[in-house]
Amino acid sequence: MRKHIKNNVSWVGFIDWELDSFHGDDYSIMNGSSQNAYLIEEEKTVLIDTVWKPHKDGFVENLKKEIDLKKIDAIIVNHGEIDHSGALDSLLEEIPGTPIYCTANAVKSLTGQFHCDDWNFQVVKTGDSYDLGNGKQLVFVEMRMLHWPDSMACYMTGDNILFSNDAFGQHFAVEELFNDLADPCLLEKEAMKYYANILNPFSPLVKRKLEEIIALNLPIDIIAPSHGVVWRDNPLQIVEKYAAWCDRYQEDQITIVYDTMWEATAQLANRLGAYISELSPDTRVKVFNLSKTDKNEIMTEVFRSKAIAVGSPTVGNDILSSVGGWMHFLKSLKFEGKKAAAFGTYGWSGESVKKLQEYLADAGFKVIEPSVLVNWNPTADELDSTKAIAEGLLV
Ligand code: FEO
Repeated sequence: MRKHIKNNVSWVGFIDWELDSFHGDDYSIMNGSSQNAYLIEEEKTVLIDTVWKPHKDGFVENLKKEIDLKKIDAIIVNHGEIDHSGALDSLLEEIPGTPIYCTANAVKSLTGQFHCDDWNFQVVKTGDSYDLGNGKQLVFVEMRMLHWPDSMACYMTGDNILFSNDAFGQHFAVEELFNDLADPCLLEKEAMKYYANILNPFSPLVKRKLEEIIALNLPIDIIAPSHGVVWRDNPLQIVEKYAAWCDRYQEDQITIVYDTMWEATAQLANRLGAYISELSPDTRVKVFNLSKTDKNEIMTEVFRSKAIAVGSPTVGNDILSSVGGWMHFLKSLKFEGKKAAAFGTYGWSGESVKKLQEYLADAGFKVIEPSVLVNWNPTADELDSTKAIAEGLLV
């Protein structure tokens, strides 16, 4: 089950074609995923990360077929989240006392999850290294809050491989493993979805960490993340993407998001989309009913957008719960530099637009003045009034 990466480095992880959600149900997975673990067999034998708990027994059994587990000199835990640390307990039953190299925060994370005070933790920080023998070293780089406090990367000298853990990863199953063998459109989409839905709140830290890594001027031949493809063809392309994505990223796109009870709000959404397209034919316009489209896919489109418009009918003096839940998620992702507008409908009290404007401002969006609030079904003139929103978002 090993896949050769370079010289004495192999992939020994798990490709999960059936996984359909992650972080509970908070992240949808459309194209499978993988939990990437790596085995280095220099003078020292080192395992970097493991797999998610449901796959731990298969992981250990497969590893046994590749090597005598007693040969493992050290385990590197780049990140304690259970999708990477899930097999540690089973593995350590076979090789108790094996040193685990990780950050101080990872000790807290692993101890909290596994209640494992007797594990042989070796705490490392940025700049520390592990001598692999044969003139090669693993150099550790703390990646605090990218995306957990304990996150870490390590760089293998000699082979010039950056084991980046979650950074630069994607939830994307690629049996062929390498980026040059993957479907390029899906790869870019899944890498962006991963950034938008998981890493975006930490963009200022991503920016600083990228500057720090670039300043080290390390030769990087391969970037080996803990999910998805291994970047061997122009590996810095994903670093360049991250440099753009962490800097208030936007394309010439406007995304309209709404939910509707009896189609009145849907009519406003679709007319607004048509007006934007008419006024600015080069602008990409996307219109999503929140109850019919996956929330993480929509969020990726928001990430691409320079502006959004959000619509809801008034329900219980507020907005539909589907829109409210999504707005809560939107706020947590901390988008910056994007415009927003609100529209909605009502039968009697009519608070939805005011509420939406408040929620959008609270989520960090620049809310424009024009809005549309319609009593019952929109008339032709009321549908036409969405043009003011289109103009405001396009300026
Ligand atoms: Fe892939 Fe943060 O775990």
